[in-house]
Formats: sequence, C-alpha cells, structure tokens
Amino acid sequence: MNVTTQIDEIRQARWAAPTATWGLVPTMGFLHAGHLSLIRQARAENDFVAVSIFVNPLQFNNASDLEKYPRNEAQDLALLKEAGVDLVWTPTPEIAYPADFQTQVTVSELSKPLEGAHRPGHFAGVTTVVAKLFNIFQPTRTYFGQKDAQQVAVIQRMVKDLIFILQLVVGATVREADGLALSSRNARLSAEGRRQAVALHKALQQGKRLIEAGEREAGVVREGMTAVFQNYPLAEVEYISLADADSLQELTRLSGRLLISMAVFVDGVRLIDNLLHTLV
Ligand code: PAJ
Repeated sequence: MNVTTQIDEIRQARWAAPTATWGLVPTMGFLHAGHLSLIRQARAENDFVAVSIFVNPLQFNNASDLEKYPRNEAQDLALLKEAGVDLVWTPTPEIAYPADFQTQVTVSELSKPLEGAHRPGHFAGVTTVVAKLFNIFQPTRTYFGQKDAQQVAVIQRMVKDLIFILQLVVGATVREADGLALSSRNARLSAEGRRQAVALHKALQQGKRLIEAGEREAGVVREGMTAVFQNYPLAEVEYISLADADSLQELTRLSGRLLISMAVFVDGVRLIDNLLHTLV
C-alpha cells in the first residue's frame, strides 16, 4: 500500500496504468465499519482502490468541532492495509489548500436546506474538496454513504452539473446492533450518551411506522417522532425533516420518495441519521 501526502505521486500512480479502473473512497479518517463497507465494495468493483484521509477544515463551520474531530492515522492505515487498499492520500491542510487558494465549488439550491441551514458553508467545503479529489484521482467510480444523504444529493448534482466523468456509488448505512448509525463522532459520546444515542434510530422507525399506518400529514409524523425523544433526556433535537428525496424541500403532505432526516445533539455531540421511504 502506497501512502503519500503528494498530489504528483497520486497522478503518477493513476496514469501508470491508464486503462485500469479506479475506485475512490473519500474519508476524514477515524475509520469504522461504515467506511470499510464502502472500501470493500470499491475493492470488489475496481482494479485499484484509493482512499483519502483528510479532516477538511473548509467544511467545518465551528472551530471547536474541527479541533475535537477524532483522529488516529496509524490505526486507519493498518485497517486500510488489511482491506487491500492500493493508495492512500493523507494531505496536510497546506497541501490541500496552498496559501493562494481562492476557488470554491458551490451547489446552490441543494446545499441550502437541512444540514446546510444549520451548518453555514458546510457543503461548499465538501463540494470544493470533493471536486479537488475527483480531479486528483480521476476515479472510475467513487463511493459515498447514504448516512450523509444530503451530501450524496449535493455531490450527485455537482457530478452532473460539472460533467465529472465517473460513477457515484452509494453504500447503505452501516449500524450498530441497537440501530445507531456508525459515525466517527460516536467516539465522543459518554457511556450514557452512547446508550441514549439510539433515540435517532428509534425516532426514524417511529416515523416509518406512522407513515406505513397511513399517516400523510408531515406535521403529525414529526410530532410522533419528536415524542420518542421524551424518553431520552440527554438528546436535544436540532431538526426533524420530512422532505422530498430529490429536491430536499420540506413536505406538508407526504407523497413520492421521502427523505426522513434529523440532527440531534446527544450529550453535546451532534449526530445525524436518515432513512429513505417510497410511497406508492
Ligand atoms: P466521513 O464522515 O469520514 O465519511 C466518509 C464516507 O463514509 C462518507 O461517504 C460517509 O457517508 C460514509 N459513512 C460514514 N458513516 C457511515 C455509515 N455508518 N454507513 C455507511 N457509510 C458511512 O463524509 C465525509 O467524511 C466528508 O464529508 C468527505 C466526503 C470525506 C469530504 O471531506
């Protein structure tokens, strides 16, 4: 496994075998089974697999969140080697963003609601770094997790709008046995916070149950989901959304493809989760 900070080395490796297929899995490190499922899929579908590990300062709207983001490069590299990864890029912030860097990529509409409304500038940071990754690696396929549903929608839009020649593959959300979606941020939960973090999954399941029982008023479903949190005093809901899965616009009457999503602070740690549900 080749590990480098250098963009030139990535370019050389990429074009040493120009007809080979490359799978790219962008990450911010502190790898868990969610990342590894994307890497496994990339390994199965491509001749070469590349992973980037970069805690991208541009997508953090909060300095303390950036500082507290968990890191463990030695452990990450051991996991990637075991997973059969060929190439890893671990740039410093100065390599990713030289002092004279001044260009950003913005997906105007899909970046606005949900996470975008609560984390100003977040998606411009994501799309800018991901556009750079796509140009550096020129992957055949790239792998993203449904865990970050809006991120997938925003990047899919960028790929179409800017004609990136690659296939975006979306991997299912990997969960703990109790339903908590794996996240690098889970490492920051206290023992009691970890126990109560299951509230997000429980609320999503409650929303799904209400819809399956025939409820079509978004407000009623949202109330039912909010009520779940009464049993979890460490959890503080930031938002619960029932949106159209394509436009990400909030719905009042539920129909079509739904994205049910939420952000919740559990014991001070901000967690997100979602599920897709199609009404016929
Ligand atoms: P990060 O949070 O490290 O996630 C890297 C990839 O792993 C993302 O595509 C994310 O959706 C996926 N992932 C995270 N948890 C998952 C889970 N439980 N199941 C399945 N997939 C999961 O997302 C980012 O980094 C950054 O925004 C990035 C795209 C790297 C740009 O900086």
